[in-house]
Amino acid sequence: MTDALDPSALDPADMREQYRTAEFLEADLAADPMEQFARWFKEAADSAAVVEPNAMIVSTATPGGRPSSRTVLLKHYDERGFVFFTNYGSRKGSELDSNPYVSLLFPWHPVARQVLVTGTATRVGRDETAAYFRTRPHGSQLGAWASEQSSVIASRAELLARYEELAARYPEGEQVPVPPHWGGFRVAPDTVEFWQGHENRLHDRLRYVRDGEAWRVERLAP
Ligand SMILES: Cc1cc2nc3c(=O)[nH]c(=O)nc-3n(C[C@H](O)[C@H](O)[C@H](O)COP(=O)(O)O)c2cc1C
Repeated sequence: MTDALDPSALDPADMREQYRTAEFLEADLAADPMEQFARWFKEAADSAAVVEPNAMIVSTATPGGRPSSRTVLLKHYDERGFVFFTNYGSRKGSELDSNPYVSLLFPWHPVARQVLVTGTATRVGRDETAAYFRTRPHGSQLGAWASEQSSVIASRAELLARYEELAARYPEGEQVPVPPHWGGFRVAPDTVEFWQGHENRLHDRLRYVRDGEAWRVERLAP
């Protein structure tokens, strides 16, 4: 047994930040959410304070509605949506196969911003996956083969042994085939919310909502 927890040692109830930022108004918004995302993504990347601005939390759910979340890296975005790469047999991969509804969250806390996306995920084409796989370092390519992501394994040693086997089969400089169980998902958004923190909790929340081919914008109470 461990000692009883002492929550007074470091009490999260006493932790609060006052966000001192400029107002974020409807007039500041780009015509479409991906363009607005591009602006904020650049500002997050330009701020030395935001580490890994392309890290996002992806939440999926079983068909019965049990959610699960994890961090992944955004690897591409354009007018069609947000792309990340993963193992299709992983928990997220199999949840997305049976329930394509997904949410993404970019937690840019150091600049008092977050971007929240809801949408539908589909697998990207194999050509697009192969093109990205080829840009990955050799070790990461082997890693994609070595790990049956999300399955239970006996030990770390087992994982390393599998990696070493693959490294012997495909030495540095030799082409590693794209694993059939690995690839991209593209999340086509139906809502994208831009959240800017302010003093006294008077935050700005501007949400694009898909409306046929167009987008409408609504302001949400903070
Ligand atoms: C900063 C960061 C970036 C990550 N990027 C990815 C990624 O791009 N793709 C991926 O499959 N897992 C990534 N992971 C690992 C996932 O968080 C997760 O452990 C893994 O995908 C298995 O998730 P699942 O079992 O819920 O499917 C990343 C983790 C962190 C902390």
